[in-house]
Formats: sequence, C-alpha cells, structure tokens
Amino acid sequence: MARPSTVFACSECGGESPKWAGQCPHCKAWNTLEEFKVVQPRKGREAERKTQSAGPVPLTDIDADDAPRLVLDWGELNRVLGGGMVPGSLVLVGGEPGVGKSTLLMHLARQVAARGAVLYVSGEESARQVKMRADRLGAVHDRLLMLPETDADAVLGAIEITAPKLAIVDSIQTMYDAGLEAAAGTVSQVRECAARLQRLAKASGTTIFLVGHVTKEGSLAGPRVLEHMVDTVLYLEGDRHQEFRILRATKNRFGSTDEIGIFSMGEAGLEEVADPSAALLGENSLNSSGTVVLAAVEGTRPLLVELQSLVTDSPYELPRRSATGVDLNRLHMIIAVVETRARLRIGKRDIFVNVAGGIRVSEPAADLGLALSIASNLMDQPLPGGTVVIGELGLTGEVRRVGQLDRRLQEAARRGFTRAIIPSGGTVAGRPAELDCIEVRHLTEAISVAFSPDLVPAPRIHIE
Ligand code: TYD
Ligand code: MG
Repeated sequence: MARPSTVFACSECGGESPKWAGQCPHCKAWNTLEEFKVVQPRKGREAERKTQSAGPVPLTDIDADDAPRLVLDWGELNRVLGGGMVPGSLVLVGGEPGVGKSTLLMHLARQVAARGAVLYVSGEESARQVKMRADRLGAVHDRLLMLPETDADAVLGAIEITAPKLAIVDSIQTMYDAGLEAAAGTVSQVRECAARLQRLAKASGTTIFLVGHVTKEGSLAGPRVLEHMVDTVLYLEGDRHQEFRILRATKNRFGSTDEIGIFSMGEAGLEEVADPSAALLGENSLNSSGTVVLAAVEGTRPLLVELQSLVTDSPYELPRRSATGVDLNRLHMIIAVVETRARLRIGKRDIFVNVAGGIRVSEPAADLGLALSIASNLMDQPLPGGTVVIGELGLTGEVRRVGQLDRRLQEAARRGFTRAIIPSGGTVAGRPAELDCIEVRHLTEAISVAFSPDLVPAPRIHIE
C-alpha cells in the first residue's frame, strides 16, 4: 500500500498520526500535531540501497570494536559520548536557549580541529559573531571552517566538498530544505533536514552534531521529534545564572545513558570539571544546621553534593515546600516520614531545599540525607563535621540499602571525610579503613546517631 503523502507529527514527542487531532494520541499533549509531508524515496536512492546490502554475516565475524573513536581532550566529553566521538554518527545536543550549547560545541570544534577539518555551520549567528566567540574561547584554528548558512542543500554540499571529521549544525531549527513548502523550524523541515544529514553522516563518515533548542512555548519543533532519528541525544542542563552545566546522555547507541559530564561556565567559556566533588562542596556552610553532604552516584561516577534545608515558620495558611535539585514529590514524602516516623513536629512550617551548584540529585539514596538535613535545621543542630550520609528511606522510616555503596564511601574517604551514616547490612570488605561507618536501620536511629552529644566531633575536613 502506498504511504500517504501527508501525516501529522507531534512537536512534543515526535509521534506520528495519520489524521489531525487536537490531542496527540501518543503523549496526550494538546495542540501539538503538525502536518508534515512524507518525502517519497527517490527511485535511484531506493535502488542504491538494494545493491549496497552485503547480505547476512555470522555475528562471530563482526568486529564490535570497529568503531574507532576520536578521543577528545576533555575527559568529561569522552565519558558522555561513551569513550569518544564515533565517526559517521549523528548527535543531537539539546538545551534551552542561552544555556551554552554553541559555546560547548565551539570547544569541541577546537579539539577536533587539532586532528582534522571541522565545519561549523551557523544558521543563527553571523560569521563575525561566531569568530568573536571563537576568539574569546581561544578556539580559532585554520582547520576550523565557518559557514553561515540555512539552506540544507548548501550545507550538505559544503560537507561533501570539505569532508570534515566533524560538522556542527547550529541549529537544526534554522535549516530548511527548499524542496519542502513548510517554514524552517516546522516538524517537516526539521525531520527532513536531519534525515538528509543522517544519510550523509553514515555515507561519508563525518560526525555531525545538531543543536536543538528546547523552548517551553513549543513554537519550534522540539528536539524530541529528532530523538528517534539520531544515534546520540545529549542535553545540556543548568541555570544560566549558575556556574555549573551538566551534559547528560539520554540516548546513546554507542555507550551508556547514565553518564554525565560536568562543566563550569566562566569568562573564557566552559571548562571541564574533572573533580566535581571538590568543586561542589562549599566550605563555609558545611558546619551550619540544615547542611548535609550526600554521596550520590551518577552513572559510574560518585559525586559528593551539599544539600541544604531551611525550615521556617510560615506566614501563610498553606505552608510552602520548595525544592531545587531534588524532586518535589520525594520531598513531600520525606517530610511525611520525618514527621510521622521520627515524630519531629514540622506542622505548618515552610521548607526550602536546595542542592548546591545547580546539581540535580534524583536517586533515592539521597533520602536519608534529605531527612537529616530537615531534622538538623528543625532542631537547629548541625551535623558533626566530616560526615556523609547515604541511604534510601521507606515509608515506615526504615533505612534501605543502596547500590554502589563502596564507590560512594571511597569517594568520601578520598575527599577527607571521616564518618559515614549508612544503611545496615552488606559486606564490609570494600569499605575504606579511614572512614568510620555507622550503620543505621531506622530514621530515628540515624537522628540519634547524627545528633548525639556523645559523638566525638570528627576533625574538621579541609577542602581546598
Ligand atoms: P551560548 O553558547 O550562546 O548558548 P546557546 O547556544 O545554548 O543558546 O551561551 C550563551 C551564554 O553563555 C551567555 O549567557 C553568556 C555565556 N557565556 C559565558 O559566560 N562565557 C563565555 O565565554 C561565553 C562564550 C558565553
Ligand atoms: Mg547558540
């Protein structure tokens, strides 16, 4: 059966529908369906594909390591990409306007230019603007080529002629294919341009990075439309007023999706943060009530993060509960557990929770730390210095075991911490000797341990 020449795609989730509807049948978002034209494969292209297939081969004959990766200067980028840049892959870098996507990709361009040609296509900024940024970042290089262009044909042509190792298209929403009637930034254009770039990447071996803006208004076809088509999806997160930026892989055909890369934004652009625990711990606040250090794990990497709570009398009938860096629903649950299981009266107080440095902690292993931070501020009693807290909380207040405990403890010991409050049970073998591990089974036990007057204060840790 012939495919219809028009279908409708949702600009939120990328799902397709044969008919227009007010609500997307896939993700249930309203008013997001956009008509787009299915470009029929040309006869020649179809025939080409048939002759290209080499037929089935036994798995044993395939060398899985045959994706030679280009290892970049920044370990943080390599980690998120799964060990380096894979030739011929298509990578989408999403993020809100102003978060630093163009800046990050200019740094990437410079690192690749040291090894081969790089083409930076900008549909948003003039050649002068791009040059000014490159100057500031120290990224100017004679193998780094710049093309201000929005016409997909011209962009593809330039990639074919220059045959770069890396091409950056900033942004995919500004590109248009003259063969389509739709305006740039619509679902039809974004998909068609990306599809053509993908075929070119595969055929030529050039790695192509696409920039995709995520807008809250949804006026542009979001990167979600492209997530199905590309090999790797990276999101750059962070508050533009804060120092840290997190690059997170949400899809990766060539590596794990749990990994994050951490960067800090400064005068000369971004810098990788190779030792985030050191960067994230603020020395000043560590001994004040409400502050707790957690040992979180992102992907394979342990991270010490500082979490603060402020519990105050509310002037309102309905108390406010606000969380930055932790899930608000999780906070509500922890408040309920603290109140009913540990019998600390919170009542109608406002509670504000913040994770330092703009980091987001989503794992339940942060529960116990969050609970102790609230308890600490409520009782106006700081935790003894040099202590990290690790553990998940159940609804009865029981402290549950968490994954990768040894890794967390080793990171804490490495940073000079001397005491850890952890869930009971598990093997003792991998625990660092310099860390005094106090096992707790219940939140009440954790509170009495943490705020016990008998507990000898550990020597104050020093963070450089
Ligand atoms: P940009 O890379 O243009 O963001 P995007 O491409 O995601 O829209 O980054 C813009 C922000 O980064 C802007 O707010 C200024 C800041 N910035 C610095 O602080 N230092 C720098 O050296 C550069 C280049 C940008
Ligand atoms: Mg930009």
